[in-house]
Amino acid sequence: MKFSGLIALIVVYSLLLIGCAEDNDITTITFNVGRDPTAAHHSIIRNFEEKHPDIRVQVVESPQDASLQHDLYVTRFAGKDASIDVIAIDVIWTAEFARAGWLLPLNDLVEELPMDDFLPGPIEACTYQDSLYALPWFTDAGLLYYRTDLLEEYGFDEPKTWDELTEIVSTIRQDYPHLSGFLIQAEQYEGLITNVMEFLWSHGADVWDETGRWRIATPEAEEALQLLINFIQVEGIIPRGVLTYQEEESRHVFQDGRAIFLRNWPYVWELANNPATGSNVAGKIGIAPVPGKEPDKQAATLGGWNLGISSFSEHPEESWKLIRFFMEYEQMKQFSIEGGRLPTRISLYEDPDILERSPYFKDLYEVFINARPRPVTPHYSQISDIMQVNIHRALLGRLSVREALERIDAEVLALFGRYGQ
Ligand code: GLC
Repeated sequence: MKFSGLIALIVVYSLLLIGCAEDNDITTITFNVGRDPTAAHHSIIRNFEEKHPDIRVQVVESPQDASLQHDLYVTRFAGKDASIDVIAIDVIWTAEFARAGWLLPLNDLVEELPMDDFLPGPIEACTYQDSLYALPWFTDAGLLYYRTDLLEEYGFDEPKTWDELTEIVSTIRQDYPHLSGFLIQAEQYEGLITNVMEFLWSHGADVWDETGRWRIATPEAEEALQLLINFIQVEGIIPRGVLTYQEEESRHVFQDGRAIFLRNWPYVWELANNPATGSNVAGKIGIAPVPGKEPDKQAATLGGWNLGISSFSEHPEESWKLIRFFMEYEQMKQFSIEGGRLPTRISLYEDPDILERSPYFKDLYEVFINARPRPVTPHYSQISDIMQVNIHRALLGRLSVREALERIDAEVLALFGRYGQ
């Protein structure tokens, strides 16, 4: 072998060895997250990897559908799957996952963070039996998006009640019959429940009675659901297509310019108001609280996602470093600016760069912090399944509203009878 060839071989071999040594020093953790149409977490993860050259983060995406994600994670956790390190958890799953022993308690670690700066509602949604099992990544509240150009053309203010929304839709659709009135998410999945709870609360209904016992079949709830059904089946205020819509389907129709109103989460602002996403309505969108039967009954469902560490993770230290990074002011700020997400740190609601990008954060702050949680119980997912099936059947006209509500009560009470509330 020629001398130069030998040198080349040695160089290649040494490089390979260095490569191996490097690989041994690098820990790869997985970040398990639902598909996010804003994709804003990717640049933050890249920044994290730059700051932590010894940690690599592999993003494992699941579908955006919260119900599907839930079932996927339950199957993986039940099999003690060690490949989950950091996981983004919907606010409604934390109690269930913590109770099952699938999440590491974070109480000792959070001392490193200014916990006073976090919004109390989302922190509550990370807590189970006085321990913290996650930290709030971003919060969500149901909002009403509307077309400012159309409302201005007809001299309407943003609607505060369902009656006002009905009047606006009926008037505008006389001239623009091809436009949909009001879009919601009513496929049989978790998003349906977030919409239905807003209809219930906005009629003074709830799922718990004054003594804290489960009871959904009340005259107020019947009125609320009947209104929703009339909107879809009778008055055409809501198009029937919503029975197969999730968040993204409804956002696309709205940002194509094919609807007057849309109920959705804050992320829509960043996408629909941005011409670069192909939106036809950028600059023509307003945001208001979801209407109520009366103005003082307006209500928003609390949503949002928390970050936790799997109990089966072999890399809890590295996982914590990633969660802590996401919770820092700068990263949460970037995530909010790029993804339009509601931060969970109070001080960010005064940050001028954030307010410039999402001016409505200031006006609707009260709506965000008063957003109401779905039923808080470790059995929430089963309750939600029961509600989804019966309510969707009522929306399709296969069950009367009363029958649907009574069936929900019977099935939920049977569930509590088996497992406790
Ligand atoms: C959003 C909310 C989440 C909710 C889901 C329903 O992702 O943040 O809490 O369960 O929508 O589709």
